[in-house]
Amino acid sequence: MHGGSYLVARRIEIVLRQWDQTAVVRQERTIGRSKVAGAVLADLPLHAHILLSSHGANNGAKLLRRGYSYVDGIDRASGAPAAGVLFICYQRDPRRQFILIQHQLAARDSLNQFISHVGSAIFACPPGATGGGYVGEGLLG
Ligand code: HEM
Repeated sequence: MHGGSYLVARRIEIVLRQWDQTAVVRQERTIGRSKVAGAVLADLPLHAHILLSSHGANNGAKLLRRGYSYVDGIDRASGAPAAGVLFICYQRDPRRQFILIQHQLAARDSLNQFISHVGSAIFACPPGATGGGYVGEGLLG
């Protein structure tokens, strides 16, 4: 896998009703950014999501990430939308990147009161093929 990467995918449910009923000031303090301007809050709370997930709080660890929101019908038990984020990230070494950051978030992130991780997957992505070669060549050679 030298030169390749790993993709971690998480299906994360959000209790949207609870989030929507939360005052904007508290939403902003949960994430750590102003909702309209997107700017980092001047008095960033210690448990804010962007602070705890930042490389400064994780030994320099970074991710190439993207969240895709999903709505998957209505939850029968609660009558609320079954909605959330399909979180996807790439990295060289999940042990030193996703897992490290996720441990930190699981322990302290303010966002935890609104979310639960309900699905998880990891994919090995071999490096691109060179001229005359093929994808995955290094694994078989
Ligand atoms: C439903 C779950 C999540 C929501 C709603 C969420 C939301 C956000 C938002 C609004 C931001 C700030 C804007 C941005 O930089 O894109 C952010 C930043 C970030 N999030 Fe999440 N996030 C979630 C889950 C996660 C997870 C599971 C991880 C990693 C384990 C993560 C890692 C990060 C990182 C690394 C940043 C950038 C921090 C920085 O500015 O240095 N997030 N997230």
